[in-house]
Order: sequence, then C-alpha cells, then structure tokens
Amino acid sequence: MSGSVIIKNKIKSFNKSISVPGDKSISIRWLILASQAIGKSRAYNLLESDDIRNTISSIRSLGVKIKKSKGHCEINGVGLNGFNDNKNITINAGNSGTFARLFCGLIAKSENKFKLIGDKSLSKRDFSRVIKPLNKFGIKFLSNNNKLPLIIEGTSFLRPITFEEDKGSAQVKSAIMITSLNTPGETVIKCIPSRNHTELMFKHCLKIPIKINKRGKYEIIKVQGMKQFKGFDYNIPGDISSAAFFIGLTILSNNSKLLIKKVNINKSRSGIIEILKRMNAKIKLMNKKFYYGEEIADIKVESSNFLRSIKCPKKLNTKSIDEFLIIFLICANAKGISEFNNIHELRQKESDRLKVASNFLRQIGIKVVEKIGSLKIYGNPNLKLDNRFEVKGFLKDHRVFMMSCIAALTMGGNFKIHDKDSVNSSFPNFLKILKKLGASIN
Ligand code: S3P
Repeated sequence: MSGSVIIKNKIKSFNKSISVPGDKSISIRWLILASQAIGKSRAYNLLESDDIRNTISSIRSLGVKIKKSKGHCEINGVGLNGFNDNKNITINAGNSGTFARLFCGLIAKSENKFKLIGDKSLSKRDFSRVIKPLNKFGIKFLSNNNKLPLIIEGTSFLRPITFEEDKGSAQVKSAIMITSLNTPGETVIKCIPSRNHTELMFKHCLKIPIKINKRGKYEIIKVQGMKQFKGFDYNIPGDISSAAFFIGLTILSNNSKLLIKKVNINKSRSGIIEILKRMNAKIKLMNKKFYYGEEIADIKVESSNFLRSIKCPKKLNTKSIDEFLIIFLICANAKGISEFNNIHELRQKESDRLKVASNFLRQIGIKVVEKIGSLKIYGNPNLKLDNRFEVKGFLKDHRVFMMSCIAALTMGGNFKIHDKDSVNSSFPNFLKILKKLGASIN
C-alpha cells in the first residue's frame, strides 16, 4: 500500500528557514565514481532515499564495501575495473532512471552478464538512448524492445567512441563518460549542454584529463580513459529539485518568507531561478560559494503577488527539466499565457509529465494547450478552488505527488492525493518539512 494524503486547508503564512536533503544526481554520481576510486571516500549529507538505497545495494553486489554511519557514508573503492562480480547478478534500479542508465556504463568492462530490472515506471522508460552509444563501445545488450529488463554484457576490448547526444540528456552523457573511464584512448561526446556534475567530478575530484569546448549550441567533451584515480570526500549540497517545491509553496502562499540553506545552484540546474525571476517572483540567492566547481547558495524566497507569464527560452529547458511541474503550477497563477516549447523530454520521465501536468491543470480549471512537445498555460491569478479533487494514476511519480501537495496547500479545495510513498524516491522528509512550516496534512 502506498497511502494517500488529504489536504483540506491552505497553509497559513510562515517565516522560517529549512534545509532540503542532499542532491540526488550528485549522490548517485559520488557512489558510482567512488566505488571505482582507489581507497576510501566519504560523503557527507548523502541523500537517504530509495533511489540511493538501490544504488548502494547494487554497488555492494559488485563486491564493493559501503559503510553507512550517522552523518556520513564511506566507500572502499576497488579501482577501475576492480569489481568482484559474480555471474548472473540481477540489479534492481527500482525507480531510478539515473542509476539504471549510469550503471550500464559502470560495468562496461565486466564480462559477466547482468540483468537490469526496475519498477513499473522505470520499466516503461526508454533505454535505446544508452544502448546506442554503449553498443559502439562494444557492450552488448539484450532488451525488451529497448525497455527493461536488460541483459548487459561488457567487454575487455572497449573501444573509444565519438558520439552526438542531441536530447540534452545528462544521463546519456554521463553513461558514456563513465564507460570512457575504462576505455583506452579518447572518447568524444558532442552534446546539447545538460547538468554537468559528472564533468565537474571528473575534473575537480578524480583529476582525470577532460576537455570541454563550446561549438555553437553544442559542447564537445573529450575524456582520456584508463587513468586510475584516488578516493575523494564530498560534502553534498541540497538538491534544488527538492527545494523547488518549497520555492513554489512560498511564492504561492500569502505573506510568507522562507530561507532554504545550502542548495546547489549550479548554472546547469538553476533554470527555475531564472524563470521565476523573469516571472517577477521574489527570489534571491545569498552566500554564494563554490565547492568542487559546484555553486552553492542560500535561497531566500517570499510570497509573490504580481506574477507574470513567461515564454520560456528553449535554452532553459535542460536547466529546469525536473522543475517544470512546479513551474507550470506557478504559471497557472500568473497573469497571461505562459509558453514552453521543445519540452517533449518531459514525456520520458517517471511519468509522462507533459500529459500529467495538463490533466492536473485542467482538473483545477486552468486552460492549457498541450502539443507533442509544447505546453501553453492560460494563467489565472484569481484562481480559488473549493471543490473536491482526487489526484491518482501518475505512476507513483514523486514529483507529481509533491506538486499536487503544493497546489492543495496554496489554492484551496479539498484534495485527496494518492501514492504518498512515492516521495521516498527523492525526498522522504517532504511531508515532515511541510508540517514544520504549519501545513495541515492527514
Ligand atoms: C538526471 C538527468 C535528467 C533528470 C534526472 C536526473 C541526472 O534526466 O531528469 O532526474 O542525474 O543525470 P535526463 O538525462 O533523461 O534528461
């Protein structure tokens, strides 16, 4: 049973300071890269969620020792291609698209066969995006029409590739980069820019040769493989994708203020801040610092009464890919028609987020025009809900659940929102923090 919540009252005004859990993308990358380092690595503030638990248990099944203590997680790295894997291991990635895609590169050089499985949502997602480039390296895949379960067979004769990545997918780019670690020579990726945590870790933590150049709208990334690297410690900053729901909550609430401390505002992730500033939201970044190339800041946000619509520039799409659901909800409250183009990748997430968002917004009385890769939202700053709403059938997509809670707490109405356990993928204490801010949730 996955449970449901009932929200009948809007949240009252608040003025508080919170922290959100560690960044999910960085937590997964740290686990994957530290497992291949030589010697010990420690992470502080590693995200504790189902996606991370599945990552840890999968890496343990490759013979890597991982110790979790209060406050930190320690990995005894085995060096490149040092896994002690047995035959026919089944890896369960659960709900995590990122771990599943990156895993395909992690065992590139193992000649054992791995079976990769996942939950119902992950089993509907496309893997041709990683199968295609990794095939070129020499890795073999058997799949169910490019979907899970996958049977993966690596090779000790990996050959370097040149690949053009045109979706702006950090998962694809990172799966290739992780494969390049075990590949002799230079791997070249021509890609649409996307979150760059893997590049930053390669450069600042692993200190392995990586070159990045801009060419028009593309980035050219070149990695020299077969370079061993040492263990590294990492203090993981807060996840902006989790902070996004509290930013939305505050903007849409009355007379409220919130400080969200130590959030990763890396430019490749903080499209939401740029979008909200353009929409006239009251949001500020304070105490900016750099850490291993990542930029970290405290986010100060206030209720914002005069929101205006946005025609979202396409270059912000990959920078806000996981935040669109909450951005759409904010647009539903803004004056004017907001427009988002070239966002078909939203259909490839834990659920078809373009369809789910359109259905949700229509359900609360907002006019939308949904096309295959675009969305128009006719905002209504005077929207007040007093009906009953039931939100279900969203493939347990954690971000749909959280967006629905924010809608219920800021717009009124009487909401029953299903699948509350979905938050365990990325943000297990989501409801607890909402309650700390005064939300009444049953
Ligand atoms: C992620 C990349 C994005 C994002 C996902 C996390 C990552 O997916 O939506 O939640 O950590 O690399 P795509 O690479 O499919 O865009």
